[in-house]
Amino acid sequence: MHEFYNPVRVTYISVDEYLDFLEQKSSGKTVGLFLNQSLVRKLSLDHLVNKLIDVSKHLIWINEINANPTVKDIISALCKINQTKLDIIIAIGGGSVIDIAKSVKALMRSQMTQYVTDDEIVNLILNKKYLNNNSDTPLIATPTTTGTGSEMTKWCTIWDPLNNKKFSIEAKWLYPDTACLVPELTCSLPIPLTISTSLDAFTQACEAFWAKSSSPYVKELALTAICLIKTHLPLTISNPNNFRNRSKLLIASSISGLAFSQTRTTACHSISYPLTNRYKIPHGIAVTLSLSRVLQYNLKAVPEISEIIDLFSGVDALNAWLYKVTYPHFGLSLSSYGVPETEIPSIVEDCYTKGRMDNNPIYIKQEDLMEILNTIY
Ligand SMILES: [Fe+2]
Repeated sequence: MHEFYNPVRVTYISVDEYLDFLEQKSSGKTVGLFLNQSLVRKLSLDHLVNKLIDVSKHLIWINEINANPTVKDIISALCKINQTKLDIIIAIGGGSVIDIAKSVKALMRSQMTQYVTDDEIVNLILNKKYLNNNSDTPLIATPTTTGTGSEMTKWCTIWDPLNNKKFSIEAKWLYPDTACLVPELTCSLPIPLTISTSLDAFTQACEAFWAKSSSPYVKELALTAICLIKTHLPLTISNPNNFRNRSKLLIASSISGLAFSQTRTTACHSISYPLTNRYKIPHGIAVTLSLSRVLQYNLKAVPEISEIIDLFSGVDALNAWLYKVTYPHFGLSLSSYGVPETEIPSIVEDCYTKGRMDNNPIYIKQEDLMEILNTIY
């Protein structure tokens, strides 16, 4: 038996409707707003922020959030919130912004000292002490990239670059209350970010398709996302201002998120973590580097993967598509990111993230992984 459950309400709306929606949700409330100042400038969202300041009872604005957020980013947000009881959390941005908002939602009710330390936060995360918080503060997540699918999942990722690690925070009450899909907000996304985030969604959909816990229902969602990205990513690259294609990519990303919200990711994501942590390879590209090799490796365990291959008329055509959509912005080899060949054995050791590599339909032995990494070197 396969079950499917995802409680996120998805709204597809215009910018004007979105402003009205946020105004209505924030009226008279204490609001935590997670939105980078740089995005406000880029998308001319001053009127949105001003409107929220006007209508809310109190607004706390977390306006500087780094890509690949760390424990320090959580602490900085928690300090700004300073134990204020938030009535609603609004996150507008890429996966990192939505993930920090989720982390704060998870941790804000935890007992911590006035000057909370990195170790205290890591302890709360690793020992899952946040699970008792049962935070019911509604979270409205609005993705402005077309990739991570964080608006559809109950987990978030926090990075620890010093120790080459990453942490996951997960709770059934961490699903956003509402995911707002506002295509206009993605229309000026630079092409390299459009490519890397769309490929994250693409890879996540492939992984949802072949994950141990996949199902016939998830597979169809995954194929839909893959098809949409296959068609509309190249069209967006050649015509970045086309609203329809941007809109299709945003929908594809959310469908990919819906699919992998049921399955989690697999080997490609597991392999990507040391690549991003150590060599700062953008997440969406780091997961794509091993995609074709992992797909072929998994084919013997999940013959239906041929449905993905058939969409491209063969593995060679899939590889050609990947090269076409990444060139000239990104290389698809480890060497193009300055990864020393001598470090491949130690990268292999760091590739085995619990809950990801063991979610791959076949266990990838270290010697096979070494071969995969050598092939993509
Ligand atoms: Fe991802």
